[in-house]
Amino acid sequence: MLNDINTIFRMCENNNLISPHNLEIPTFVPRLRLGVLASGKGSNLKALIRLTKSELEADIKCLIVNNAQAGAIDIAKKNNIDCSILNHNNYKSREELDEDIINIFLKYNIEIIVMAGWMRIVTPVLINKFKNRIINIHPSLLPSFKGANAVSKTLEHKVKITGCTAHIVEEEIDSGEILIQAALRVNENDNEQSLLKRIQLIEHQILYKGIAIAGSRLRINY
Ligand code: GAR
Repeated sequence: MLNDINTIFRMCENNNLISPHNLEIPTFVPRLRLGVLASGKGSNLKALIRLTKSELEADIKCLIVNNAQAGAIDIAKKNNIDCSILNHNNYKSREELDEDIINIFLKYNIEIIVMAGWMRIVTPVLINKFKNRIINIHPSLLPSFKGANAVSKTLEHKVKITGCTAHIVEEEIDSGEILIQAALRVNENDNEQSLLKRIQLIEHQILYKGIAIAGSRLRINY
């Protein structure tokens, strides 16, 4: 019994259950070349930059944002990461935006695209060009609460355990293969802000692991 309890505790990192929990991060020689898509404040980008200096042998070669207010832009600047702003309002179709995204990522020889808070739907144009090589982080335990406003939906449904998911991007929104998930308790007094803050802390713990899983498959298929 005591052994079982110890096992459960070992599976919990800071009280959060992460699965798979015993993941060994492979070495990447040469280092993985990452391109990041972001729309928001950039906490996942910031964490990823830090982790590529310690845990994950990868480099973020460029960032693409779809709005000029994204906090991610400053984070990229401070870390000497090239950044392109592609305002989606300037495009007639999602496909045209995806074409420009592809051209930028091809220019940098990107192997894996990381959606770190990217709030635009992408089309098969991008998905098929980078098949199994686009990873998204989503603030719920998929397949629950796909799409926008996942955290407010979580609270509306009075869900007791939630978390985040890193998954492969497929055409249907938030539906691709789940690579890794982390779970946490919803507290009785949580509001959207407090819950999102805790979810994002665990997002930072799993996103790089999801990239490592996808990256190792990619390198095996070289
Ligand atoms: C993250 O919580 C991410 O899960 C969410 O946007 C936030 C971006 O935060 N993404 C989605 O909801 C995608 N459906 P950040 O800009 O601080 O990394």
